[in-house]
Amino acid sequence: MAYAPRTVRAVEHLRTVSHLPGDVIEIGVSAGDTTISMAQYLKETGIDKKIYACDTYEGLPYDGKLGLDDMLKKGECAASFEKFWGRVVQYGLEDYIVPIPGLVEDTLMARLKDRTWCFAFVDLDLYEPTSHVARYLHDRITPNGIQGYHDYKFERCPGIEIVVDQEIDRNRYQMVGDNWGNCAWLKRVD
Ligand SMILES: C[S@@+](CC[C@H](N)C(=O)[O-])C[C@H]1O[C@@H](n2cnc3c(N)ncnc32)[C@H](O)[C@@H]1O
Repeated sequence: MAYAPRTVRAVEHLRTVSHLPGDVIEIGVSAGDTTISMAQYLKETGIDKKIYACDTYEGLPYDGKLGLDDMLKKGECAASFEKFWGRVVQYGLEDYIVPIPGLVEDTLMARLKDRTWCFAFVDLDLYEPTSHVARYLHDRITPNGIQGYHDYKFERCPGIEIVVDQEIDRNRYQMVGDNWGNCAWLKRVD
């Protein structure tokens, strides 16, 4: 498998926090390129954590509504659950991944309300669910843990920059590393 910059960086940052309490969550999974790479890292290192993999497994649930992201269309990035899980099985990673299918606006509070995470990777393209997720994660990243937002400063996804620069509490989360691969990485510092 060829590794995209977002995936390489996600594993690098996960490596720095994988000793902390809490599992790992990826929110916006598609066919699972990043999920699989992170799970391979856990398997290779023998780290006893799971990756919760949240997605509709039907692609974007609605068109971009921000005006600037009107190129984003319902159904984009679609990879079926069967395709995703088939790849997980192909790589022998079933024990490391917990799929959470459905709209994240519903599933996070319904199924993962009482969880905390050492590492979160958010890759939803759209403003509305990303804003929802940032509010969900605010109190749920372990101290010194990291949350990452893909498509930060990417012109097709202007909502991500709004969430990262205007909505996330920077007294609690400070930017770490560079944004190679259009990702913002934020470490919990309080
Ligand atoms: C760009 S893809 C994710 C790519 C993946 N992180 C990777 O590294 O290969 C975006 C994903 O976000 C999912 N998504 C967007 N909005 C969602 C929502 N509100 N609830 C659940 N999934 C959503 C889409 O189904 C799509 O699979």
